[in-house]
Formats: sequence, C-alpha cells, structure tokens
Amino acid sequence: MAGCGSWIIFLTVCAASLFGANAEIKLTIPVGRLFTYELLRETFQNDFEPLSKLYAGRLYDDPMIFKCNMQNFPDLPEWLRFTQRHPFDNGFLYGTPMSPGKSIIEIYAINKRNYDTARHILVIKVTPEKMLPYQAEFFIKLREIEKVLPSPVQDEIKQDLQKLWNTEALEIVNITNALDRGGRVPLPIAGHFEGVYVKVGSEKYFSDCLQRVLTPDHQKQCTAGAKVKGPGGCNFCRIPSNCITWCKTELFDLTKLEPEPPAPTMGSGILESGGDFNPPESPPSRDYFPDYIVTVIVPLIIAIILSLLLAYIMFGKREGVETRNARTNQIQLYHHHTIHGNTDELRSMAGNRGVPPPLSTFPMFNSRTGESASPLQSDSIPLIMAQHDPYSDTLPRK
Ligand SMILES: *[C@@H]1O[C@H](CO)[C@@H](O)[C@H](O)[C@H]1NC(C)=O
Repeated sequence: MAGCGSWIIFLTVCAASLFGANAEIKLTIPVGRLFTYELLRETFQNDFEPLSKLYAGRLYDDPMIFKCNMQNFPDLPEWLRFTQRHPFDNGFLYGTPMSPGKSIIEIYAINKRNYDTARHILVIKVTPEKMLPYQAEFFIKLREIEKVLPSPVQDEIKQDLQKLWNTEALEIVNITNALDRGGRVPLPIAGHFEGVYVKVGSEKYFSDCLQRVLTPDHQKQCTAGAKVKGPGGCNFCRIPSNCITWCKTELFDLTKLEPEPPAPTMGSGILESGGDFNPPESPPSRDYFPDYIVTVIVPLIIAIILSLLLAYIMFGKREGVETRNARTNQIQLYHHHTIHGNTDELRSMAGNRGVPPPLSTFPMFNSRTGESASPLQSDSIPLIMAQHDPYSDTLPRK
C-alpha cells in the first residue's frame, strides 16, 4: 500500500513537472474586496529540484526572489502589489480590484542558490460585485504588511473588528503598507514597525463604538495630541499587536457620496450636416525683423569689431618685435667688441709676468713627493700611479 501511495505522489509530481511550464492557476475574485495570493516557496522548490532527489526524500530550502508582471507588460496591473521581505520568506500578491476584467500575471521565481528560474501563470478573473456602502479604515501601528497578509492573521484582525462593528457581515476591503501612504521607515530597533492600514466594509451601518470617532469630543482629544485609548468598552483587541490607533480611524459612508457628474453624452460619431467647415482664424502674422537684428546682425557686428581688433593687435605688435630685435643685435655687437678688447688686454698683462709658473702646471709632477720626473723617464712609470690609488706605492715597480 505504501508503494502505491508513493507511486501516486510520483505520478502527480511527474504530471506537474511535465505541464509545469504551462501551469496555470485560475482564480475568480469579486470587485472591491481584498485579494491576497501567497507565493509559497515550497511550490517553486518542487520545480527546481530534479525528480530523483525529491523522490529520495532530500529537501532543499533555497533562497528565492520573485518577479511578477502582467503578461506582455513590464509591470503589474495598477491595483495589484507584490511584496516579499526576504529571499527566505514567501512572497505576496495583494490588492483590491476596482473594475471587472481579466488579468494574466506571470510569476518568475529565481532560485538564488543555483540561479534556476521557474515560471507560473496566474489568471485572475474579476467579477462585478456591489460595493460595500459603509467602510472604515483602521491603522495598526505594531504590524508590518507581510505579517498581516497571511489569512490566519487577517482573520484575527477581522474578528476584532467584527466585535467593534457589532456585526458578522464584515469584509476586508484593502490592506496597505503605511510606507505607501507617506509613512516613515522605522528605526531598526525591536518594537518599531512600519504599520498597516486595514480598510473594512459592511452592509450594516457603523456601530455606536465607531460613531464615537465622529464626535467633536474625540476629535478634540486627538488634535490635542493625547493618546486616545478609545471609548470605554470598545477595545476589542485580544492580541496587543492588532490594536488599532483610534485617532487614525476614518469612516466612509459611500451612500452619502455626491452623485458623480453625469457622463458626457456620446454623439453618433457623425458630424451634423449643414454649414461649411469654418477653419479657426489664423493667428496674426508676426514681424520677425527685430528677431533678425538681434540674432544675426548684432553678433555679426561684434564679430567684425573683434576681428578688426585682432588684426590691429597682430600687425602692431609685429612691428614692435622687429625694432626690438634690431636693438638686441646692436647690443650683441657692442659686447663682442668689448670681449675682444678685454682678451687682448689680458694677453698683454700675462706676457709681462717674469715669475716662473707653479710646479703643478708642469707635466708629471707628483703632488705628494714633490719630485718631478723627467719627461724621458715617464715611459717606465704607469700613468695611473700618480692619480687616485693610495696603495699604488706598494705595487712592485718595474
Ligand atoms: C487600497 O489602498 C491603496 C493604497 O493606499 C490605494 O491606492 C487603493 O486605491 C485602495 N483601494 C481601495 C479599493 O480602497
């Protein structure tokens, strides 16, 4: 029997994976009610795993991210939102459709471990439904959108509000992240949450508890900034994180809404006969001459003036350069002349000296010993000896 059971599972998985590429999930939902669809990671995990591993009972828990869009469009329909806090969390599609119709949503799951992708198709058919005439919006401060969207939590919140409204006939109309309504990102500290708005609707008129929100007393307290606890006997939250912020409670009576202005009456689409078409008068002709002056003539004049100025500078300066060059030549000639004279003068002065020249000016003079070798001997002494090497004396001489 056990074998039979596993065969059935195997076949189902087989069928699922065979038709996985075309897996379509069809949903029908009414207008004006909250729609929530949880993208379960387990479902997509089955698409990623090879059958053999799954059959062997091996389980993975891969991080995943989702990309959702309307088929053939880059984004989701206007009424539908997607949220996923972390790749290890499930994702949610949620929103409230306001008009009937059909949307085809493509969901791509990307496995962040091996970068496999899987595609699912969601066909959402929205059917017409009467709007709930009495609606109220509550702010829940200690909640985050992902924590409120799972249906058990939605039910908890609904039960509290049913007591507050004193009716069972209550529907959730909308759930919104407070960040989408101008809320602030909370500090990353325990006990700070983004907050969510929950809108519910009913056929039944508001209860006494709710009507007290409209009293001037309550409004005065709220504008004074007091921490309003809510009217006595009206606090029904069993779980503290589901408690509403009374001062942000708003009631909407849709029956009292002003009737919408009548839609424009549509004509037959054919122009009535009679009368010729009278084209609208053409605007008065414009004089473009001032524009022409400003945009063409003035810049042209400025350009001419500038080029004349440039020409003057170029030719004027060139003359100046030439005269200066001539002057430099004269100075150089004078210099040349004086250098000649000075050299002659020095030569004649040197000729008059009677003193013998210093020894060091003679060739082969040894500065250490003071002896001077005769030019004849110089062949036998290595020339390098007298120069730098201090040990040269120890070297054997020939
Ligand atoms: C639901 O809330 C969103 C965000 O505030 C808003 O854009 C949308 O119109 C609301 N839908 C309904 C039906 O109230």
